[in-house]
Amino acid sequence: MSSVLLADDDDAIRTVVREKLRREGHRVETVGSIAEMRRALDQAMPDVLVTDVVFPDGNGLEFLAELFDRDPLVPVIVLSAQNTLTTAVQATERGAFEYLPKPFDLDELARAVADACAKRGARPAEFEAPSGEELPLIGRSAAMQEVYRVIARVVANDLTVLILGESGTGKELVARAIHDLGRRREMPFVAINMAAIPRELIESELFGHERGAFTGAAARTAGKFEQAQGGTLFLDEIGDMPMEAQTRLLRVLQQGEFTTVGGARAIKADLRIVAATHKDLGALIEANQFREDLFYRLNVVPIRLPALRERPEDIGELARHFLERAAQEGLARKRLAPDAIARLAVQPWPGNVRELENVMMRVAALAREDVITAKVLGAPLAGGGGDAMASSDAELGGLFERWLAGYLAGGGAPDEGLYERVLAEIEPVLLRMAMAAGGGNQIRAAKLLGINRNTLRKKLTEREVEPRP
Ligand SMILES: Nc1ncnc2c1ncn2[C@@H]1O[C@H](COP(=O)(O)OP(=O)(O)OP(=O)(O)O)[C@@H](O)[C@H]1O
Ligand SMILES: [Mg+2]
Repeated sequence: MSSVLLADDDDAIRTVVREKLRREGHRVETVGSIAEMRRALDQAMPDVLVTDVVFPDGNGLEFLAELFDRDPLVPVIVLSAQNTLTTAVQATERGAFEYLPKPFDLDELARAVADACAKRGARPAEFEAPSGEELPLIGRSAAMQEVYRVIARVVANDLTVLILGESGTGKELVARAIHDLGRRREMPFVAINMAAIPRELIESELFGHERGAFTGAAARTAGKFEQAQGGTLFLDEIGDMPMEAQTRLLRVLQQGEFTTVGGARAIKADLRIVAATHKDLGALIEANQFREDLFYRLNVVPIRLPALRERPEDIGELARHFLERAAQEGLARKRLAPDAIARLAVQPWPGNVRELENVMMRVAALAREDVITAKVLGAPLAGGGGDAMASSDAELGGLFERWLAGYLAGGGAPDEGLYERVLAEIEPVLLRMAMAAGGGNQIRAAKLLGINRNTLRKKLTEREVEPRP
């Protein structure tokens, strides 16, 4: 039986976690403040500490230094509602064994505690990371939390990372964040885009060439591998790499050294590789356009970036971020009305964050209003003139009629209870969007919907829409 100390200022969390961990066979003690945690540790050092970050009397992450002074090897699991990349990375840097964003899954926490007990003593190596720096990634959705956790796991090592995601989802931004947060951040970050280089030049771009190696090679030129020595090499659009170059790259990755085109001496490669693509590498492998063995070399740590439409709850924060940046660049400062955020949240965003960024820049530059409403957004969302909102208002009835006709014809419709079925289709969408527009605040969401807060809460439960804190 192992002992767990659980520190959280929320009674409800203390109770459910304590009961869960007791059922799993652990001895559990709970405390609600840093002062109480200190007192508990004076009594006995637990096998595992599970702690929140924000306490009324201090910060759980800052407290870790004091904890590790007492026992450098005790595994710590950090729970936090401040679900940013900064929190995830700080938790890892300060030596936390695991970081779980709130709301967390109880089974997952139980698993983490079991792993921590098993691995007691095996804390990751600590390293100095940049402090208080602006981190570039915005979004607190569950999908982004997962991304932050993976980033936090790779910043302290040199594992190869493969970033997958649609165009405009932030692949390059993530590659840079991994570099900027890691041990190699003082060294160069060098990017090469496979789709932008003529295929016959790729090898010389990557590995460099000697003077006279081919017609036109007037002088020795260093390739990207050499330029990135000590730092990070970002292989962008890896899915567009020609086969011959793939073979060469694979050999370099296997041997850990490269030679320039026309050169004889092998140069040891001392860098971290981050690769990215928006293409489906599995399909390319099937079609014999991508080497499977190269895929396995690159896919050591995969990071899948969610499409923007998969995380509509982040859209408000992102939109405000881009408006703020526009203001810093000298454009007029604009604010977003709740109905504008709701309008942005239903957009399909095929161009993802980049497309949202462009729309917000256009709004900042062109809108006369200081407060941007859904109506003001109509034109920029339609890509220019015309009032898109008005036309989609008029279309909703027709759209619904077509949906209903298809639904009834499709044979999936119930013999009775159609009214409830239709509401079950519509209400979750309405609730999710109102919550997103209210920034996760139930009072604001209820006001926007024009229903009272208890009704909203009941409906959120009924429709299984997550009430984000
Ligand atoms: N989470 C985010 N927070 C803030 N800005 C973001 C985020 N994700 C993307 N961006 C911004 O969106 C734009 C597109 O991002 P980026 O160039 O990294 O996308 P990409 O996935 O590499 O796209 P492509 O596949 O088209 O090359 C950039 O201006 C970037 O700063
Ligand atoms: Mg890119």
